[in-house]
Amino acid sequence: MRLKDCINFHDFRRLAKKRLPGPIFNYIDGAADDEVTYHRNTAAFDTCDLVPNVLRGVTEVNLSVTVMGQKLAMPVYCSPTALQRLFHHQGERAVAAAAARFGTMFGVSSLGTTSLEEARRISSTPQAYQFYFHKDRDLNREMMTRAKKAGVEVMMLTVDSITGGNRERDKRTGFSIPFKLNLAGVTQFAIRPAWAFSYLTHEPFMLPQLDGHVDMGRGAMSISRYFTDMLDPSLSWQDVAQMVEEWNGQFCLKGVMSVEDAKRAVEIGCTGIVLSNHGGRQLDGSRTAFEQLAEVVDAVGDRIDVLMDGGVQRGSHVLKALSLGAKAVGLGRYYLFPLAAAGQGGVERALELMRTELVRDMKLMGCTSIDQLSRDNIRFR
Ligand code: LAC
Repeated sequence: MRLKDCINFHDFRRLAKKRLPGPIFNYIDGAADDEVTYHRNTAAFDTCDLVPNVLRGVTEVNLSVTVMGQKLAMPVYCSPTALQRLFHHQGERAVAAAAARFGTMFGVSSLGTTSLEEARRISSTPQAYQFYFHKDRDLNREMMTRAKKAGVEVMMLTVDSITGGNRERDKRTGFSIPFKLNLAGVTQFAIRPAWAFSYLTHEPFMLPQLDGHVDMGRGAMSISRYFTDMLDPSLSWQDVAQMVEEWNGQFCLKGVMSVEDAKRAVEIGCTGIVLSNHGGRQLDGSRTAFEQLAEVVDAVGDRIDVLMDGGVQRGSHVLKALSLGAKAVGLGRYYLFPLAAAGQGGVERALELMRTELVRDMKLMGCTSIDQLSRDNIRFR
């Protein structure tokens, strides 16, 4: 199978699986505990159906939306994800460039392998900076200052990761950063020589957002230990209120799920929230963002931009979320597998397929612009 044969999420996933060493593929593909929430994220979209309108003379479709003051050419964006240069040597550079070509927002992670400044230079479209709140307050301060100085448009604080989710696939493979693998894991790398060659012949693994504060170079650390040891579990609404004030710009909380928390986000001056269960990678058994969406939009949708992510594989999934009131929808694995499979060309192909599906589905729904989607377009079974 080659890139040009990939026509949906599952094809990209298969291609990525063929190219990546097992531990890395499983790091992306895996989730917490029994991975129930992970699977329900996608399944939740099938609990309702779209109700189209016909004969509306739909010739042109405008997919643009404005979210947290940012104009996006389409209602999906590339969520921040960690360690992208492990998946393909182009890493964050490929994602930033692809997002720019499609006129949409992309996120750079605190655990990114390219600096937020470089990503900012590559793309002219809005950049979100995914912030992990560390015990090391100096590091937090420095990350905020750097992001501001680089011209990052949206600060996105992840709030669902004060301790590591139980990622059992990573436990089995011994996945850690940079690398410390158990025997089974080493074998997996040996049978993916093309990946190993590319990894070894490109610039060394780095975490430029954390440089000088977290020494990942010497000891290898699992993602779970990073969360548990480095991040500050005492982080409170008061701390975040102070961050919002200091940032003095678009500020968004990623990982809010309850109505109560959504209201507090409004109170402390956030301009956006992303309903998310972190791709099912943190609390297994938690509800899906899609299922929480209507309730949260009803409570705060007129005061804050409500976004969501998790399990999105199709244009129709996006239209369902938008019909319930989401302002935009985040993609994660949807672009990571294409990145792993083929770098920038892969991400662009995936975004192209998404855009084509969105335009087609909008036409079939009888809508020319995103604001025409509403609850009238959707019925739960
Ligand atoms: C993860 C983090 C790093 O889910 O976002 O692995």
